[in-house]
Order: sequence, then C-alpha cells, then structure tokens
Amino acid sequence: MHILAIETSCDETAAAVVKEDRNVLSNVVVSQIQDHAPFGGVVPEIASRRHIELIRPTVDWSLEEAAISLEDLDGIAVTQGPGLVGALLVGISFAKGLSYGLGIPLCGINHLEGHLNAAWIENDPRYPHIGMVISGGHTSIYNVEGPGRIVEIGHTLDDAAGEAFDKVSKLLGLGYPGGIEIERISREIDADSSEIVLPRPMISDNSYNFSFSGLKTAVLKLVMELDIFPDKGLRFSGLPKAMAPKRGKEHYIPQIAHAFQEAVFDVLEAKALKALKDFEAKSLVVTGGVASNSRLRNRLALMSKAHGVDLVIPDKSFCTDNAAMIGIASIRCFTEGRLPDFSMNALSRWQIP
Ligand code: KG4
Ligand code: ZN
Repeated sequence: MHILAIETSCDETAAAVVKEDRNVLSNVVVSQIQDHAPFGGVVPEIASRRHIELIRPTVDWSLEEAAISLEDLDGIAVTQGPGLVGALLVGISFAKGLSYGLGIPLCGINHLEGHLNAAWIENDPRYPHIGMVISGGHTSIYNVEGPGRIVEIGHTLDDAAGEAFDKVSKLLGLGYPGGIEIERISREIDADSSEIVLPRPMISDNSYNFSFSGLKTAVLKLVMELDIFPDKGLRFSGLPKAMAPKRGKEHYIPQIAHAFQEAVFDVLEAKALKALKDFEAKSLVVTGGVASNSRLRNRLALMSKAHGVDLVIPDKSFCTDNAAMIGIASIRCFTEGRLPDFSMNALSRWQIP
C-alpha cells in the first residue's frame, strides 16, 4: 500500500510517500523560512500563497523520490488541523482533488497526532508512554496508553516553547527561526561560566502545564536593565548608573540565551519526569521542532537513563514539520478502510482526543 501524505499547516509545504509497514519512501519538505524571516514570524497570507505555488511541485518531487507514479497510490492523508486555516485549506483542497480524481480514500489527520507518530519511524516505543510535542505552535504532554489512545494531560497556558525561543531570539537581535540561533549561541557558555539565572515558571506546581510568556518578559526586563540595545529604545528611563552594564552586548547575549535555554529545558525535563513517574510509563517520546535541539536531546537522554525508561526522539528531520509523520499517523485510518469524506474542512483548533 502506498500512501501520499500532505502537510501544509504552517510555513512548510511537505509531501511524503509511506507504506503501511511504516517504511518512508520519500519525505520532501520545502521551507518558506526565507519568505517569513523579514517579518520575524510566519505571515499567514504569505504562507497560503506560497503553499499554492509549491504544493504541486512538492507532491511531484515526493512521488519522484519514491520512484512511483500517481496511479500507484492507494490513499491520500492530509493534515486537517490544528494550524493556519488558509494554509491548511491548500493541502486539503489539493488532497480532495487527487482523491476524487484517482478514486482512492482520503484521511484527515491531526497535526499533533502526526508529531507523536514520528516516533514510529525507525522506532517502536513501548506502551504506555509519555508523549511530548514541543513546537512553535504547541507544547503539550500526553499519556499514550495504546494505539490511538492518546490522553492530553497538560499544555502551555500561553506561549509554546518554540514560540518563546523565537520571541527571545528577536529580543536578543538574533535571527529567525529563533531555536537554532539560541542553540548555536548558547554553546559559547557552559554551566560553570554562566552568570545569569532566569525563572523556571510552574516548575513545581504539581500540574503538567507550562507557561513561557513570563520567561520572555523576564528576558525583556533584563535586556532593558543591562541597557544592551540603547539604540532600539529598549531601556528603563532614569535607570541608576550602578545598573549600567559592565560588559558589552557581545558578552551578555550568549549569557542570556544560555540562561533562557536552561530555564526552558529545566521545566520541560521536570514535567516529563513527573509524568513518567505518575503514569508509570515505559518510554518517553519527544517530538516537535524544539526536540531537534541537541542540548535538550542530551539532557533527556541522561534523565531517561537515570529513570530507567526508553527515550525515543525522532531524527531531527522528522521532529520539525514534515509529511512523513502525517503518513505514519494515517496508516490505521486506511487499514480500517474508511471512505473519503469530501465535506472535510480545515480546523484551526483541534485538541486530541
Ligand atoms: O514543529 P515545528 O517545525 O513547527 C510547528 O509545528 O510549530 O517547530 C518550529 C519551532 C520554532 O519555534 C523553532 O524556533 C523551534 O521549533 N526550533 C528549535 C530548534 N529548531 C527549531 N527550538 C530550539 N532549538 C532548536 N534547535
Ligand atoms: Zn508542528
């Protein structure tokens, strides 16, 4: 069985071909980062327009890479939500047209379920497991009891972790997307030379929820107090002289980036550990763009080993948005023999279950 999967929920136009045995034959991701970078974030209207231009060639490339033709397809999977409605509609409309034209089934897939299913590419996480999706749009934690039995136990109350990375990167005058930039610059600092400590929001509040917007505000306050960017107007008026920085921004920016990254990862690690213990999980699955961060991957590897659970973090290419994960999540849908639903619509919000 050959499944064509399409993902257009945000700023990546992606198509993949997967088989029902979880073999990924192709995984093409066309990033729109360059289109959105001048704005420091994703512009929904630009994303929709680029998806329209890119969807056809992206699907063609995915078929070419898998060395199959349209007639070899047995089903189409498409991200139905959550995401940007205009962006989702491009993928959904294209998928509906193909499904109708080829007379093959169509399945709408939840993007977050897709991220969790990336764990099944080249791995077999044991049940029950704790799943974490840490991306630019979401930071959620799930108790995954069995196939398709996913219960959300916590989520962010404000900004997603990746969103906080993007906003802090912008505050520090680093590039977009912020995660990679903050990871890169944080490597200049090790724990011994770290001078700044930032808050760890909700770290021991006994819930599985998160909050990252206050941390971003703490960084903003610090940037103003240290007077790092006087030219940008980011300063407190009447600041006492004693608080003026002793060192320049070259010194402070890596320090702040490192302190921010450690604060976020301390919270993520603490909540993951609490959930692993409370639900007596056998494995920890971590996906989403932030899970491509090497520092987080190393920290979680140490924590999981100490706690005696398996850690499954997909390859970096399957952590960030891609269509292979949507294809893997759709296998159950096709083996259950569902019929195409042409009334399917995009869902901007769609929590699982
Ligand atoms: O999963 P993803 O590709 O798209 C969404 O569904 O949001 O995640 C993108 C997010 C961005 O916020 C980006 O800054 C963050 O993942 N990210 C990272 C890293 N690479 C990407 N965050 C921290 N460290 C990284 N290396
Ligand atoms: Zn995503």
